[in-house]
This record gives sequence, structure tokens and C-alpha cells, in this order.
Amino acid sequence: MTTQITIRRPDDWHVHLRDGEMLKAVVGHTARQFARAIVMPNLTPPVVNVAAGLAYRDRIVSAVPAGMDFTPLMVFYLTDDADPAEIARGYEEGVFAACKLYPAHATTNSAHGVTDIRKLTGVLETMQRIGMPLLIHGEVTHREVDIFDREAVFIEQILAPLVRDYPALKIVLEHITTAEAADFVAESGPQIGATITPQHLIINRNAIFDGGIRPHAYCLPVAKRERHRLAVRKAAVSGSPKFFLGTDSAPHEIGRKESACGCAGIFNAPYALESYLQVFEEEGVLDRFEGFASEHGPRFYGLPLNEGTVTLQREEVSVPEKIVDGDITLVPFHAGETLRWRFIG
Ligand code: DOR
Ligand code: ZN
Repeated sequence: MTTQITIRRPDDWHVHLRDGEMLKAVVGHTARQFARAIVMPNLTPPVVNVAAGLAYRDRIVSAVPAGMDFTPLMVFYLTDDADPAEIARGYEEGVFAACKLYPAHATTNSAHGVTDIRKLTGVLETMQRIGMPLLIHGEVTHREVDIFDREAVFIEQILAPLVRDYPALKIVLEHITTAEAADFVAESGPQIGATITPQHLIINRNAIFDGGIRPHAYCLPVAKRERHRLAVRKAAVSGSPKFFLGTDSAPHEIGRKESACGCAGIFNAPYALESYLQVFEEEGVLDRFEGFASEHGPRFYGLPLNEGTVTLQREEVSVPEKIVDGDITLVPFHAGETLRWRFIG
């Protein structure tokens, strides 16, 4: 039995680090495990120009605990009136690694998101030309579409035509949750990739209603039925370079989760690698973990692989019910459970 596993240092290709006190409370959890992370720009106000990207990057770097080596990769938040020249400048100057498309009102702080993708013609042409990746929250927002169908409908109505119209545009379909998404990405060209969260590999939608409403199992896109979880899991462990690690760790203060209208988001950063590794072990493919965690992402983005390694050891780890930092209390993914691997560093 494998008792220890050492891999090249991994990256998180999708994380919410927030700002202010919350940023200070959470960034160390990500920086401890990952060398780099693609940092989501859904702040209030969102990151919509080069100056805002630079200022947010500085705030993140200042919040990283001393002695940790961590590089945030910044993302431009697309709005209906996003300026192609500003985006190109931000990419060429190394400020932004990608742009994020939130359909308006799809999720937390997406009110400024894009109302109609046809408004982005100039932006998408520019991104395609300069090779800048487009990161997509792939859900339609129409109220009449069932919440469990929103990803599949987005793929059919928006993503498939987009890929056809911009055949060289690099696209990451973020946090995929369905068989339709896994199939679409697998069958597309090498310019289309996807991130996968730990929760979508581990829970299905029953977890949200397990003996009562479970707000800490609620995120967007919402977990789907079991057959979808199995399809996403198969994609993650397939060894295909199109699928890579992106936690979508999305912390919300406990009171904003345990509420009559609880926020979407699962805070999985503290035990992210332990959580993913358990899945690769259960599937009998520990040898594919390094590709998913440390190689496929940088290759897709055209960035160098990290130097150095991290080690996880087979040893039981009890996940606390709560993580408290000053006035902020967070409930981590796997709260109260015992995991099988310990992150050594
Ligand atoms: O669950 C989610 N939380 N999904 C998102 O798309 C946004 C995120 C957040 O910012 O809280
Ligand atoms: Zn996210």
C-alpha cells in the first residue's frame, strides 16, 4: 500500500480569495498547498481594469503569511462594456492571466456580469488573437430553466456556438458538474479545458438535503445527481490533459451560509489536496494525481511547471467543525469528517 506520495508543487486554477479581513483569514490555506492560483475577480466592485487588478494583486501578496511562496494569477471580470484594448494591455503586461465570464446574476457578485455574449464580439476576437484564456461560469440564468439543467442548457445554447464562432479561443469551462460538460470538453479540441472541484467529485445533490437543509453543501453550479458525479469523476481521473484542479474554494462567513437565504460556496481550501487525493486513491489511479494537480493546468495556460514538490502521507486527519480567525468563522468542506491523507508540505 502506498503510504506517502510526493508530487510536483500543484496550482489551484480557480479560487475565491475575497478581500479585506476575509482575504487575510483564507489566503494562507491556499498558499500553504499551492504555488499559484487563478484568483476570481468577483469582488465588490469587481476587477474590471488593469489598475484594479494590480491593486488586488498587491493586497493578496501583502496578506500571504510570512515565509510562504505564493503567486496569485489575476483575472479580468468581463462586463458588457469591457474594453478590448484594456484587456490586451493587462495580458501583455503580465497583470492578467485570463478573463472571466459570469452570465449576469448567475452567482455571488455577478450582477455586473455579461447580459448577452454578443456584446463581447470585440473582446473575444482580441482574446482569440492574443491567446488569452476565457474562463466561463457555464450556467444560463433564466428563471424558467430548472437549476439542475442550467449547465447543460448553457453548453447547448451558448458554449457550443461560441466554440464554433471562435475556433482558436482558449476556453476553460469552470467547475464542471455534469456528464454533458465532461463529454463536451472531452470531445472538443485541445483549446477547451475544464476545472473540477473536490466537492463535485465527492458529493451529489442528496448531500444538500441530507436529513435537513445543508447550507455548507450548497455551491454553484449546484451538485447534480449521482450519474453526473460519476461522469465528472471519470473525467478527472482519466489522465486527459483537458481536466485540471480548480477548487472553487468560496468562503462565506458562517452566518451568511446558515441563513434563510444562504450564500452559494464551499470553503474547501484547508484540505483541498487531501480531498482530491482520496478520490484518485479510490479510483486506483494515484499515478494520475500529479498530472491533474500539477501539470495539466500550467500546460493549458502555457506557463512553466512549478519547481519543488509537496508530500502527503497516509495518516488520518480530523477536519474541525469550524475554522476561526479573529471575528471570522468558517465551516470547511468535510467538517467533522476524518480524511485519509495528511498534507506534509
Ligand atoms: O458557489 C459559488 N460561490 N459559485 C460561484 O460561482 C461563486 C462563488 C462565490 O463567489 O461565492
Ligand atoms: Zn468560483
